[in-house]
Amino acid sequence: MNKITIAIDGFSSTGKSTVAKQIAKHLGYVYVDTGAMYRAVTFYAMQNGFINPDDFNVEALVYHLPQIEISFKFNDALGFAEVYLNGKNIEKDIRTLEVSSFVSKVAAISEVRHKLVEQQQRMGKDKGVVMDGRDIGTVVFPEAELKLFMTASAETRAERRYQELIERGDKVDYEAVLNNVKERDHIDSTRKDSPLVKAKDAIDIDNSNMTLDEQFNKILQLVNMTIEDYE
Ligand code: DC
Repeated sequence: MNKITIAIDGFSSTGKSTVAKQIAKHLGYVYVDTGAMYRAVTFYAMQNGFINPDDFNVEALVYHLPQIEISFKFNDALGFAEVYLNGKNIEKDIRTLEVSSFVSKVAAISEVRHKLVEQQQRMGKDKGVVMDGRDIGTVVFPEAELKLFMTASAETRAERRYQELIERGDKVDYEAVLNNVKERDHIDSTRKDSPLVKAKDAIDIDNSNMTLDEQFNKILQLVNMTIEDYE
């Protein structure tokens, strides 16, 4: 059976990774969470004192980029690949509101994007991949056979992210999460390099009023139609 490339883009907390993992598991494809890679670089910048709420030393981060090695290792118990920074598992460390508050600034740096896009293209070169992010259908794999663009209202997305953070035991308030969602939407879609835009040939999925099952079935149908077309 021919393998295809599935590109899933959209605003933050639209449930891209949830459905991407489900589809990858169903098809036996590799799932790549590109947001985790931008979060990993952000975590590195935080650990090394290059970024804080008042200051971002872009030159220092760019200078140290060659020393940042990001990898993924499949965790059988979890059913997806966790992200590693220079050999250390940082899957939990990168999902905090603090990392979320800096990540869009880091993702706007062209040198960072160049490094990560190159790695993403290598990871997907043999197809059979489901990759989610902001620029997968426009920049990383403009030739992807199936492109989806996920949307949901800012309030729906903030509520989902808030519940995730509370379930992990983080102390956050809903307003702070909503503000972060809105701020990231703005920075991600107005940055100069590879802004978040819908690819012309991407299919819109608004999941504000869909259950996870409905969403999975709708997307699986699109995937199957695309695979049939390519056989
Ligand atoms: O999907 P996420 O929320 O984990 O992504 C974190 C940030 O990384 C997001 O605010 C924008 C950036 N990002 C990006 O610029 N390009 C990608 N392909 C993926 C994420």
